[in-house]
Amino acid sequence: MPITTAVFDAYGTLFDVAGAARLAAEAPDGAALRQVWPHLAAEWRRKQLEYSWLRAITGDHAPFDDVTADSLDWAMAAQGLDDPALRARLLALYDHLPAYPEVPATLRALHTKGITCAILSNGTPAMLRAATTAAGIADAFAAVLSVETVGVYKPHRAVYAMVETALGVAPSQVAFVSSNGWDIAGAAGFGFRTAWINRAGVPVDRLPHRPTTVLPDLSEVPPWIAA
Ligand code: LAC
Repeated sequence: MPITTAVFDAYGTLFDVAGAARLAAEAPDGAALRQVWPHLAAEWRRKQLEYSWLRAITGDHAPFDDVTADSLDWAMAAQGLDDPALRARLLALYDHLPAYPEVPATLRALHTKGITCAILSNGTPAMLRAATTAAGIADAFAAVLSVETVGVYKPHRAVYAMVETALGVAPSQVAFVSSNGWDIAGAAGFGFRTAWINRAGVPVDRLPHRPTTVLPDLSEVPPWIAA
């Protein structure tokens, strides 16, 4: 069946998750972060994902804004940063993460080709509304699907099944796009065709279900779907 629908992961794929720490470090009062922001951003993300997987396994679901705050607390403590104002600023910035530069043109090209675009994310509806609105891309999506509907995080199959239910498309009609290798493995196992956006040029994850294709950024998604 031809692909009719492109479903995007949000954090790390459309939005640069390192952006919050980077923007805070660049601010006039960001001296405490100037040296450590890349490390803080990486640890924050690593713990955020670990906590999401662990909560999915143990059945202790909490919304992604709580998980994001918990993981930031861990990452700040690991850096010896005890600064409530900085914590509040980083969490506020997380709601306005910069989109990667090629995102608007990619979405426009997909619309021109008649492809329906959607988001499927761990983020809460409020987080995703804030991020897509701040990036000026809220109108580009026919649906913004949040794991809050099923109360469990990726890569649980219930998350990917939301695409079928919400959009009425068979998995084989879906191109799933994510920069997270483990998310691609989950989506491919579900039956989607998958594009792994490997911005960092890292090795493919040694998990069942490899990506259909590997692309350096999102600009190559429209030609891949059209091919
Ligand atoms: C998301 C995380 C996995 O947006 O990046 O679902």
